[in-house]
Amino acid sequence: MITASAPGKLILFGEHAVVYGEGAIATAVDKRARVTVCELDEKKIVVSSKNFGAPIDAPLKGETDHPAVRAAQAALEYAGQKVGIGIEIDSKLPIAAGMGSSAAISSATAAAVINLLTGTVPSLEISNVAYEGEKIAHGKPSGIDSSVATFGGTIFFQRGKITNLETGNLTLVVGDTGIQKSTKELVEKVRSTIEDPRVAHSMFSIGSLVKRAKTQMLEVGSPSKLGILMDQNHDFLRKLGVSSVKLEELVKAAKKAGAYGAKLTGAGGGGCIIALTDEPQEVIDALKAAGAKRAFTTKTNQEGVRIEG
Ligand code: MEV
Repeated sequence: MITASAPGKLILFGEHAVVYGEGAIATAVDKRARVTVCELDEKKIVVSSKNFGAPIDAPLKGETDHPAVRAAQAALEYAGQKVGIGIEIDSKLPIAAGMGSSAAISSATAAAVINLLTGTVPSLEISNVAYEGEKIAHGKPSGIDSSVATFGGTIFFQRGKITNLETGNLTLVVGDTGIQKSTKELVEKVRSTIEDPRVAHSMFSIGSLVKRAKTQMLEVGSPSKLGILMDQNHDFLRKLGVSSVKLEELVKAAKKAGAYGAKLTGAGGGGCIIALTDEPQEVIDALKAAGAKRAFTTKTNQEGVRIEG
C-alpha cells in the first residue's frame, strides 16, 4: 500500500490566456489531496473516496470520466503492467472551485501507482501521467495545473515549459463563491470566441501583464504593484466573459477591505477569488459579509507531490 499527496493550486496570473500559449504564474497551496493505492487480485480499478459518493469500478484500459481512474490507467501503461489497483481518495480541496482539485488527485494517484509498481518517483513522468487525468476535467488543458501539483513551489508556465520562481510567500486570502463550475465548459466558452480579434488581443495583453508580474515577483516584490496587475488581470477575465455576479461582489468586497488587488482564479464562472493583502482577517470578514461560502488565508509556495508512506 502506498500513499501520496499533492497540493492544490492557485493561478496568480494568466489563466485562459495560458491555453493559447501565453505565460501564466501558479503557486502550490497548503491544502492537499491524499491518495492511497494498493494492488487488487481482480484486474480492475476501484476508486473510493471520502469526497465523492459510492465507490466506482473501472477497467484497466478504456473510456472513463474519472481523473483518478485515467491517471491510474496511464500509470499502468507507463509501468508496463496489468494489475488491479484500489484507490482511496481523501482531498481537502473544494471541488470545481479553481483550486486544482482534479490535478492534485491526478498527480497524487500517478505518484502512488508509479511508486507502488516501480518503487520510483520520476517527477516528469508523474506530471505527464497526471496531465492525462487532468484531460478528463479540462478537455485540452494547458498543463499548468498538473505541473504545479507535481512540482510545487511557484511556477511560470508557458507551452509546457516550467520555470521555478524563487519568490517569497504571499499573503493571499481565498474567497469561495460556493458555486461549482466546469473548467471544460468555461475553456470551451472562451474558445468559441477566440476568432474575435478583441479576444485575441486580450489574450496577448494578459500575456504581457504576466511578464510584468513575473519581473515584479522575482525582482521587486512590491505588493501594491502586484495588486494593480491582479486587478488588471481580473478586468481582462471579466471581458472574456468568465466572471460572474458573485465573483464581482467578492472582488469588490476584498478591494473595499483594503486588499492590494483581487481577481478570480482558475477557470471562473464561479469558484474562488484571491486577494493580496497585509490585513487577512479584515478581508476574510469582508468576504464572508459579502456572502462567500468560505474565506481563508492560504500559504503559497508549498511542496509538490510526495510519497507519504
Ligand atoms: C484552469 O485552472 C486554468 C485554465 O487556464 C485552463 C488551463 O490552463 O488548462 C482556465
